[in-house]
Amino acid sequence: MAHSPATDPAPLTLAGGVSLRGTVRVPGDKSISHRALLFGAIAEGETHIDGLLPAEDPLSTAACLRAMGVEVSPIEAGQIVCVKGVGLDGFQEPGDVLDCGNSGTTMRLMLGLLAGRVGRHVVLTGDASLRGRPMRRVGGPLGQMGAVIHGRKNGNFAPLSVLGQALKGTTIRTPVASAQVKSAILLAALTATGATTVIEPHQSRDHSERMLRAFGAQLEVGGPGNTQVILTPGQILRGQPVIVPGDISSAAFWLVAAAITPGAELTVENVGLNPSRTGILDVLELMGARLEVLNPRDVAGEPVGDLRVVHGPLRAFEIGGELIPRLVDEIPVLAVAACCAEGTSRIRDAAELRVKETDRLAVMARQLGAMGARLEEFEDGMAITGGAPLHGAVVDSETDHRVAMSLAVAAGIARGDSQLHRPEAAAVSYPGFWDDLERLRG
Ligand code: S3P
Repeated sequence: MAHSPATDPAPLTLAGGVSLRGTVRVPGDKSISHRALLFGAIAEGETHIDGLLPAEDPLSTAACLRAMGVEVSPIEAGQIVCVKGVGLDGFQEPGDVLDCGNSGTTMRLMLGLLAGRVGRHVVLTGDASLRGRPMRRVGGPLGQMGAVIHGRKNGNFAPLSVLGQALKGTTIRTPVASAQVKSAILLAALTATGATTVIEPHQSRDHSERMLRAFGAQLEVGGPGNTQVILTPGQILRGQPVIVPGDISSAAFWLVAAAITPGAELTVENVGLNPSRTGILDVLELMGARLEVLNPRDVAGEPVGDLRVVHGPLRAFEIGGELIPRLVDEIPVLAVAACCAEGTSRIRDAAELRVKETDRLAVMARQLGAMGARLEEFEDGMAITGGAPLHGAVVDSETDHRVAMSLAVAAGIARGDSQLHRPEAAAVSYPGFWDDLERLRG
């Protein structure tokens, strides 16, 4: 059913022209949280996870695992989560369809985990957004290893059914740089016969490689720009303590908000700074943002630091190519930053945004357009000319968490108030976002 913002019960009023000051700790990294749950489930022994993101997406992963007989303790803010591993082949066949909610990472990584569970049949589905996202990019490569996965439109769309098979290792070149695709293949490779090689066009985030190695898997990363991963099966994974750093993709809203809001000064503490994720920092530097990395440290195999940003003048940026996978989730908020920069910013090679939780190029063009942004949308990106002040408007997250939070940042620098429909989408990755915003606006 088409959504009508005009009849939505509770749009959120966001005042324009309010500055931001203070210190914030963003919740745990979403990608690392999913992986800690999934790898903990297939390990031997217990995995204790400190800082797990208590948001809708990881809850979907935990619910799927529980439905297959894995004990996962309650997921609540500030609590260490315990996963009792069932081993590489210990999943029980679930008695019902598994619901992955809004979470692409849950569905794609589960496909990799389930493809080799011989004789067990599992059906995966999700919300309307997830049922419209492409899954052949995972089903295709897994099929090369012998997996049997069926779904609508020749296996491209959920509901998807997986009937576990004995898999064989092979060499797979992925057409897109996607950590979800790479991780699904690596998970399937754990119980295949023989080694599996994954070759990506550019390196995507490498949290799976780091954590699988810490759990005891044998894998080698190499090739130009670390685009090649070889996994050799045969190792038993051992449960581990995992410490999840704050999510740089959630920090990005505060980094951009501080950079563009007159008078703003924010420190975001405990942010994961894995180089495969820090493209946003490179772009903010390119723009001339007043950004400092404080207290850099290493926490359980991932680099971490605190980030301080102070408002100042910004220059336009041009991004594309291998930088895109390093900031793929930050492009909506970078589009907001571009509205405040001197000159025309250009985003290219970002067609992947069209198959995220929403078509983020179309949605950001539509919503920022409603606020008076001067932008042009292309097939694989957009051009945004900064300098024209945004005005308050009626806008809509269109159910996308990162759009909701990006529009909140835009509304903060607009002239006049905005009304944001469906703000609750933020809970997919950052349930406390609106409380943090209120406090920092204090
Ligand atoms: C993710 C990978 C990225 C990212 C998503 C999380 C992951 O997706 O956009 O939010 O945890 O592996 P793709 O793998 O499709 O690029």
